[in-house]
Amino acid sequence: MKKLEEYVQSIPDFPEEGIIFRDVTSVLQDPDGLALAIDSMKEKLTGIDFDIIAGTESRGFIFGVPVAYALHKAFVPIRKKGKLPRETISESYDLEYGSAVIEIHRDAIKPGDRVVLIDDLIATGGTIKASIRMIEALGGSVEKIVFLMELAGLKGREQLKGYDVESVIIYE
Ligand code: PRP
Ligand code: ADE
Repeated sequence: MKKLEEYVQSIPDFPEEGIIFRDVTSVLQDPDGLALAIDSMKEKLTGIDFDIIAGTESRGFIFGVPVAYALHKAFVPIRKKGKLPRETISESYDLEYGSAVIEIHRDAIKPGDRVVLIDDLIATGGTIKASIRMIEALGGSVEKIVFLMELAGLKGREQLKGYDVESVIIYE
């Protein structure tokens, strides 16, 4: 059986010169890769008490929903600005390339809700930090954060001190 790392294709100079793009679609397009990715992320939540999985658009949805379904938890989407129809709160942040604004429905997290955050990848940590700010602003607590891939060289984890963070694959 292939290891998960072997399913990830690394594309140099995409979307900009100097970036090595860790392409999750090459994992998804193989049924064994997809199953291994979801199972590996789900395993990281063994023994964690929580109510909701939140995931960021769009690659966070790919992994957040199947893990939530497998563990019979709710899923809350964190979306790019202007996509959610009801009352939202928002946060802006910087990425490895570019910047963005994300939003969450104000009623999606209630005070005391225990939330797990899932995303395909952490680079600078900007996206996840903005997500944490919104969840905590709504009174939720972040019980664990799970990534499929971590670009350790970009030091995103330094922004997550005090949180329980695990990544399935770490690129140094
Ligand atoms: C990517 C990735 C993470 C984020 C990581 O999403 O899926 O959410 O960047 O970068 P950071 O740690 O520097 O914040 P992107 O915003 O490219 O959107 P996409 O999932 O729609 O491709
Ligand atoms: N998102 C931010 N940086 C990335 C990278 N190097 N590969 C894939 N997705 C990313």
